[in-house]
Amino acid sequence: MDKIVSLCKRRGFIFPGSEIYGGLANTYDYGPLGVELKNNIKNLWWKYFVQTRDDMVGLDGGIISNAKIWEASGHIKNFKDPLVECKKCHHRFRPDKLIDPSKCPDCGGEFTESKMFSGLFKTTIGPVEEEGEIAYLRPETAQNMFVNFKNILDSSGKKLPFGIGQMGKAFRNEITTGNFIFRTLEFEQMEIEYFIAPQSDWNKIFESWLEYIYGYADLIGLARDNFFNHEIPDEERAFYSKRTIDIEYKFPFGQDELWAIAYRTDYDLSAHQKASSRNLEYFDEETKKRFIPHVIEPTFGVDRTLLALLSESYSEEEGRVVLKLNPKVAPYKAAIFPLLANKPQLVESARKIYEDLRKEFNVAFDDRGNIGKRYFSQDEIGTPFCITIDFDSLEKSDVTVRDRDTMKQERIKIEDLKSYFEKKLN
Ligand code: GAP
Repeated sequence: MDKIVSLCKRRGFIFPGSEIYGGLANTYDYGPLGVELKNNIKNLWWKYFVQTRDDMVGLDGGIISNAKIWEASGHIKNFKDPLVECKKCHHRFRPDKLIDPSKCPDCGGEFTESKMFSGLFKTTIGPVEEEGEIAYLRPETAQNMFVNFKNILDSSGKKLPFGIGQMGKAFRNEITTGNFIFRTLEFEQMEIEYFIAPQSDWNKIFESWLEYIYGYADLIGLARDNFFNHEIPDEERAFYSKRTIDIEYKFPFGQDELWAIAYRTDYDLSAHQKASSRNLEYFDEETKKRFIPHVIEPTFGVDRTLLALLSESYSEEEGRVVLKLNPKVAPYKAAIFPLLANKPQLVESARKIYEDLRKEFNVAFDDRGNIGKRYFSQDEIGTPFCITIDFDSLEKSDVTVRDRDTMKQERIKIEDLKSYFEKKLN
């Protein structure tokens, strides 16, 4: 983990939040390469789960939301954890997560009485803070989809079963944080609410979603061997859920939840129907019956997916550090080098190839140092291909393409480069 954290800072993937002011614990900013990697994760998710399925539509709901949503969903009442504070060093902990909850693990000090602590971030709307209306930053994207269920049903004409997909920021006032971007105060989720008729064979639909989720792991390049389906036992599941699986991943610090899937019955829609007094029923034209749909919820953390990709792809071999990222998620698809930076003909030709390729792919240009250093620099950020323009290129209109993982090189005609990469990236 230390090596990943340091690489992320050094190469511009992830920086500590508010750093020049001494930082703000458990917040991070994504740098130039981090934002590319994150966007690739999200774009592939959107295409795979929303755009290429007839039974899915998308939503982009608001982050600031009416307190009534969170009353109805049960978050105001139940989204709480126990908290203790060390009387000596004032560090805070969740006593249920401590191996020895009787004394501080940092300084051995005595704890305060345990009290319940809300995980919701509260804010106020209006010019005078004290008189403002209380609103909450959403702790999950899911509720946007339940409260818009009727809007989407009426405007899209979708028939059951169908789902809504959404991605975006969520905020949680977490006490137990740490492990880099694994658990932070602000993070991104990608969630699906898949609505089904109450009498459906829910377990079959649940299983088919579980398998479909693993197709996404294959797509972005996370090996199935590194996953574990943690079936949550009855006594640990939320009371409204009939089945929940935490899809765990073997992170460098241990196995923990990466994604999850839950059958939430009709709990959420029923709760919102009751609290809002709006009818959220579905009318089945075939059976002429009205009912509240049930829901299966696959949920994904963007930041944890990014951390899993970094953990899985990080390798050290033959004196080099390589991020063996799947080309589909890699920030740069290729890097273009003139063999020598002081030969204008080479630089000009390399720049032309760069300008041409960047219209289709995110590519980098580098003319600093020697070729060996440039290769190592691109290996470290996961660029799958490096293209070198040398003197032969000027005569024969071809270039050397070097593969990140095999380090093998081949000559490719300049005019064939686009189709070569299109093939490699699919
Ligand atoms: N709507 C269901 C829901 O929100 P969750 O298990 O609490 O379920 C879903 O969260 C996913 O969001 C997790 O599997 C994880 O990937 C991510 N996640 C949750 N809390 C997080 C945090 N504090 N920091 C980063 N990711 C988090």
